[in-house]
Amino acid sequence: MPQVRPFATDRLPDLLRCMPKAELHIHIEGSLEPELIFALAQRNGVQIPYASVEELRSAYAFSNLQSFLDIYYAGASVLLKEQDFYDMARAYLLKAAQDNVLHAELFFDPQTHTARGVSMATVINGLHRACVDAKAELGISAALILCFLRHLSEEEAFETLEQALPFRDKFIGVGLDSGEVGNPPEKFARVFARCRALGLHLVAHAGEEGPPAYVWTALDLLKVERIDHGVQSSKDAALMQRLAQDRIPLTVCPLSNLKLCVFPDLASHNLRQLLDGGLVATLNSDDPAYFGGYLNENFTQTFAATGLSSQHAYTLARNSFEASFIEDAAKRRYIDRLNETFEAFQ
Ligand code: HPA
Ligand code: ZN
Repeated sequence: MPQVRPFATDRLPDLLRCMPKAELHIHIEGSLEPELIFALAQRNGVQIPYASVEELRSAYAFSNLQSFLDIYYAGASVLLKEQDFYDMARAYLLKAAQDNVLHAELFFDPQTHTARGVSMATVINGLHRACVDAKAELGISAALILCFLRHLSEEEAFETLEQALPFRDKFIGVGLDSGEVGNPPEKFARVFARCRALGLHLVAHAGEEGPPAYVWTALDLLKVERIDHGVQSSKDAALMQRLAQDRIPLTVCPLSNLKLCVFPDLASHNLRQLLDGGLVATLNSDDPAYFGGYLNENFTQTFAATGLSSQHAYTLARNSFEASFIEDAAKRRYIDRLNETFEAFQ
């Protein structure tokens, strides 16, 4: 990895914003801005229990993951038509392009929609069309990862997988999200084994609020390729060693961790500890409409609060491409563009 010369810290925010990067942990339903929620509610004749955009936004004060999930699932209730899913993903991809995101892997929660009578075809076709158009019109590559809701049963996850398989060419992998504590990875061991046999990429949220034990079982029983969040891993030295040795990427989301009270403030975030421990950490926005910032906002606020350096910036951006599920030739092209940006800044 090239040594990055340190330079005046007042230039660091500019570098963070303009450096090419990938986003690997973004729930597309978590990019629904209050304005779009209200517009879609009106378009679809859906009632929402908030009188205005301001009132909805002022409800975004969370004490933990579950307090957020309650509002997040309510917000998603305005999504009914294929065009709604397209518009949501399009709005995110436009923001990502402005943040110099070259590649994005988008989580989606089909069970949140199929439970309301929306078909799997409506969800996947709308999101996938936005990904195709983003490549042609914005120059961003984007891919979909289907997440199973872990507060539901494994049987329901199997049913969801069956419904999604006719669209197998439109998503690249599966993940595991929603309320973590009490829903350990092992609850989904059989469905993940089936997804693995199908050649799908595997990821799972683990160690966001849950203990290091959940990270271990995500690795050993689900056989995931990346851990989403994983910040609780720093409590377990043997786990840190395992993650570093096997180069298992963590998709870390500092503004999410702040808003869900995983850390009391950004200055206390353990991103530096994870990087210094040799882990392949990446930086991501999680649910940017709810947590107060898209990817560049996560970079600039986290670096300002923790004093990370230009070398850390390079490592995080490079890790984002290395940890992505794009083919090697595209990875190399993106890393070349990253190197050019850093050389121009020296
Ligand atoms: N954790 C778990 N489930 C989620 C999240 C998260 O951060 N965001 C959306 N669903
Ligand atoms: Zn998440």
